[in-house]
Amino acid sequence: MNAPPIERILFSEQEVDRRIREVAAEVSARYQGKELKLIGVLKGSVFFLTALARELTVPAKVDFLGISSFANQKGAPGMVRIAKDLDDSIEGEDVLLVEDIVDTGFTTRYLLQHLAARGPRSVAICTLLDRVTRRIVQVPVDFRCFEIPDRFVVGFGLDYKQLYRNLKYVAVLNPD
Ligand code: IMP
Ligand code: MG
Repeated sequence: MNAPPIERILFSEQEVDRRIREVAAEVSARYQGKELKLIGVLKGSVFFLTALARELTVPAKVDFLGISSFANQKGAPGMVRIAKDLDDSIEGEDVLLVEDIVDTGFTTRYLLQHLAARGPRSVAICTLLDRVTRRIVQVPVDFRCFEIPDRFVVGFGLDYKQLYRNLKYVAVLNPD
């Protein structure tokens, strides 16, 4: 089997799992007594969302949005469009938008606006990775597992040409 072309592991399987448990505890504490609607963004956030959801102690529903984002690998921000909308209404619900990574912030801002227009009671953002150094538009990240340096990463949902999403760790891709 070919080894994935990675330069180094940033967060090991154990580190990712431990951090997700910690963040799930934070989320559970924040929404104590409430019911959550977890909204994942296909396909990247599926891995993080399911891992997070399993550790929550508050009741949670799950729905997904599909987007086509044309931000390229070098980070030139582009257009975002909804390719698959939510199945169910979020009106009056406490929504947690679950992201794989917040980078420039363009995708997240677009999604926040899209969700806010549907009358939820609240919307918060939970991301596995946060690359604050590349932020162009400010978005309120309520929960995050890790801040990462300005390197392209794969694993735990993040892809390079649709590959490596299923790695159990987060790694810096080999630049070659
Ligand atoms: P934005 O720049 O915040 O709009 O993020 C756009 C999208 O780019 C993210 O949701 C990811 O799908 C993708 N992306 C950004 N950085 C990386 C990376 O390091 N690895 C894999 N995908 C990334
Ligand atoms: Mg991608």
